[in-house]
Amino acid sequence: MTSIDISGTFQLGSRRVRRIGYGAMQLAGPGVFGPPRDRATAVAVLREAVASGVDHIDTSDFYGPHITNQIIREALAPYPDPLTIVTKVGARRNETGDWLPAFSRAELTQAVHDNLRNLGLEVLDIVNLRLMFGRHGPAEGSLEAPLVVLADLQKQGLIRHIGLSNVTAAQVREARRLCEIVCVQNHYNLAHRHDDGLVDDLARDGVAYVPFFPLGGFSPLQSTTLSDVAASLGATPMQVALAWLLQRAPNILLIPGTSSLAHLRENLAAAELELPDEARARLDGIAAEHAAG
Ligand SMILES: NC(=O)c1ccc[n+]([C@@H]2O[C@H](COP(=O)([O-])OP(=O)(O)OC[C@H]3O[C@@H](n4cnc5c(N)ncnc54)[C@H](OP(=O)(O)O)[C@@H]3O)[C@@H](O)[C@H]2O)c1
Repeated sequence: MTSIDISGTFQLGSRRVRRIGYGAMQLAGPGVFGPPRDRATAVAVLREAVASGVDHIDTSDFYGPHITNQIIREALAPYPDPLTIVTKVGARRNETGDWLPAFSRAELTQAVHDNLRNLGLEVLDIVNLRLMFGRHGPAEGSLEAPLVVLADLQKQGLIRHIGLSNVTAAQVREARRLCEIVCVQNHYNLAHRHDDGLVDDLARDGVAYVPFFPLGGFSPLQSTTLSDVAASLGATPMQVALAWLLQRAPNILLIPGTSSLAHLRENLAAAELELPDEARARLDGIAAEHAAG
């Protein structure tokens, strides 16, 4: 048994995956643009993640662009079975690295083919439709048109399952009326809890919720309460942040991102951290502190 087995499994598309996975965004260069400073370590991080039991990797062809998927292919192909690779479409990068919406039928179809080619796959396990309706997070608006394109690509056999990213609860409801949605990937962590209700609704329906920025993203979480709780448990703040998510709801699947072998090991070890009720109560106060601060 690998240590990450301790945190259990959850259904993701056709497979049950371990609840601690890996997010590959940090494997591209600075700003998720261009090649990494250390490609050999990027390859080593992916191989060690899988050797440690990670069977769920999150990526996109717009990381780099193309580069992160090419590194995943170099590190892991032919892919072990079971490994679920989740990708996302709906954005593109320009020559200076800006993130631009890309929702036309032609752009979505191109993105699916780019992911297939760069990952070296014939079918993508799960494709998240990543909305870009707002500048700073989810914004309302119908997702029917782009979702219909993905459903068509699914009927053609290029995609097994469809998920959503950066969406509102209303958009999740709209999408689930149109096709089966197997996961929702939104910004969520112990300091950013806008989706509390959505997490619980999806848990009731057995749909995976995959928080992005589980450690705070480009500026990792900083909180005196978090540091104090971590010190009292003999763990690191990042391990406590991940353990809090694991204990928050059974449908939460983790995809912490790192370009470092040391951080990968630290993050995977969070599976073994049990948070006492008193620690969880203190951690639950962080979101309010964050909102006030
Ligand atoms: N759907 C979306 O719109 C969306 C948006 C953002 C991200 N994502 C996905 O979500 C995944 C996770 O998000 P993320 O990587 O942006 O953010 P994250 O997991 O919250 O944090 C990553 C940051 O934390 C650092 N870090 C990781 N482990 C650490 C540790 N143990 N101690 C200290 N620092 C640590 C990383 O730096 P080092 O490299 O130095 O470890 C990196 O700067 C991504 O990889 C991507 O797959 C999706």
